Amino acid sequence: MIRISGVGWRTKGTHIVRDVSLTVSQGQRFGLIGPNGSGKSTLLRLIAGLQTPTSGQVRLQGKTLAELGRRGIARRLAFVAQAAETADRITVRDAVGLGRTPWLSALSPWSAEDDRIVTEALAAVDMARFDRRDWMTLSGGERQRVHIARALAQRPQILLLDEPANHLDIHHQLSILRLIGDLGLTTMIALHDLNQAMECDRLGVMHKGQLIATGTPAEVMTPDLLARVFGVRIRELVDPVDGAKVLRFHEIC
Ligand SMILES: Nc1ncnc2c1ncn2[C@@H]1O[C@H](COP(=O)(O)OP(=O)(O)OP(=O)(O)O)[C@@H](O)[C@H]1O
Ligand SMILES: [Mg+2]
Repeated sequence: MIRISGVGWRTKGTHIVRDVSLTVSQGQRFGLIGPNGSGKSTLLRLIAGLQTPTSGQVRLQGKTLAELGRRGIARRLAFVAQAAETADRITVRDAVGLGRTPWLSALSPWSAEDDRIVTEALAAVDMARFDRRDWMTLSGGERQRVHIARALAQRPQILLLDEPANHLDIHHQLSILRLIGDLGLTTMIALHDLNQAMECDRLGVMHKGQLIATGTPAEVMTPDLLARVFGVRIRELVDPVDGAKVLRFHEIC
């Protein structure tokens, strides 16, 4: 479970994220939406402990990030960054193996079980056949899938993903989002595709560094809010096959 209270981050007198309070309960899939520069990535980085809040506090499963420490955080939470990089000259398999780091120590060195977990993670993102390839030679979408595999190999209870479907072709977008849903983990996911955001259990809307609305997708995706935050008008269509709502967007001139 993630509990954030009054979290903010300020630099050079500018509030990038201001006074965000939020609880994501166990097993919930929480989507974060908002325009470019609204603070989504910064908020995720604050929750992951990669940036320290200048105000407020983040708790994971009841403990503050300071109490957990780096290793404690990494044993609970995996983060897939928006544009993740990896040191060059590393194979795909070794890049995914990095996810096992928080679980290794002198007393529990790398074992066959770690190998099995890495193999499983590669298969889950459809990258098994690339396992001996140099990470640097991968395409953008393939790299993204490897980073998701690294996060899966970490065996976290909490998964933070920053636009994970960004570089993926439509087949892999659907399969990765389904995989993430099926894992049943506590998940926070920043998304730009508002139709994909509709699949989340709950949504939060970032606007100018503030969390201005939270609720179910139906509660949050109102014409008023989308007009105010994104400057678009929506039309809802209904899929005649399964009755699902599909959103179409038009600029407000
Ligand atoms: N270290 C920094 N110094 C100055 N400004 C920063 C810093 N980090 C982020 N910002 C600014 O804070 C704002 C929020 O950035 P952030 O990356 O969190 O936005 P975002 O909602 O993830 O946007 P996008 O949808 O484009 O990914 C942006 O305007 C960005 O330029
Ligand atoms: Mg971002």
